Amino acid sequence: MNDEQRAVTRRGGLDTSIRTAPIWAAVLAATRTAFGDDASLRVVDLGGGSGGLAVPLAELGHEVTVVDPSPDALASLERRAREVGVAERIVAVQGDAATLPDLVPAGAVDLVTCHGVLEVLDDDAAIAAAAHSLAGALAPGGILSLVVAQRLAAVLARALAGRFEQAEAVLTSVDGRWGAGDPMPRRFDAEQVSDLLTDAGLEVVQTHGVRLFGDLVPAAMVDTEADRAALLHLEQVIADHPAYAVLGRLGAALHAVARRPASP
Ligand SMILES: C[S@@+](CC[C@H](N)C(=O)[O-])C[C@H]1O[C@@H](n2cnc3c(N)ncnc32)[C@H](O)[C@@H]1O
Repeated sequence: MNDEQRAVTRRGGLDTSIRTAPIWAAVLAATRTAFGDDASLRVVDLGGGSGGLAVPLAELGHEVTVVDPSPDALASLERRAREVGVAERIVAVQGDAATLPDLVPAGAVDLVTCHGVLEVLDDDAAIAAAAHSLAGALAPGGILSLVVAQRLAAVLARALAGRFEQAEAVLTSVDGRWGAGDPMPRRFDAEQVSDLLTDAGLEVVQTHGVRLFGDLVPAAMVDTEADRAALLHLEQVIADHPAYAVLGRLGAALHAVARRPASP
């Protein structure tokens, strides 16, 4: 594979990976509605780590600032951005949810992404403050893409593993964890996320469960490209169709798309 082919493969990753395709489709639909098809967007990726999202976004022509507390992740992001030839469209900033308002001017961003980060924040107050900071970074009409771990998927996974007490703990505990050994610091429900975003002054465009089967189906059952494509299509159909929203509640992650109102 030559460099150009490698770049195309990476760029295609967002919409062909089972983990990210339904997320990406929803973000694309919202940003196209807000800004049109070809706009180059100002993007902030909070907790963007080593650039799994930022690099493909920069390859699409967007200007991306990644704010993350990990110097190692940011170094790896910069290396990746250089390799792919998008270093000039990526800014890596060391910071976190609490310092975001000091790092990004208010109202300066078209798209804010925050994937897999709210779970690791200390408490409800820090989560609510982060939601306000994410909303505050958005220009009027701007779009937020938020991904968090979802509670019911873990209930199902623990029950299917025969860990019934853990399943019940995930279901009934405040933080959606099955105990001290649970590697996930917190899981969320769809209503909780909608309330969080509404309280931060955003209009919720859509919440949908993602990674329904991707995390449950054993890898051995997805061993051909045709299997992978069929599973991806199934996930996409469920994510896209309001009638199947009930199944989406079993997705390992919840994706919310919200918009900052165009006028106060
Ligand atoms: C699970 S990773 C998610 C990375 C990436 N967003 C993704 O979806 O693949 C969590 C990221 O959040 C970052 N992080 C940890 N604490 C944070 C905080 N308080 N504010 C912002 N980011 C934080 C970590 O350094 C890490 O890069």
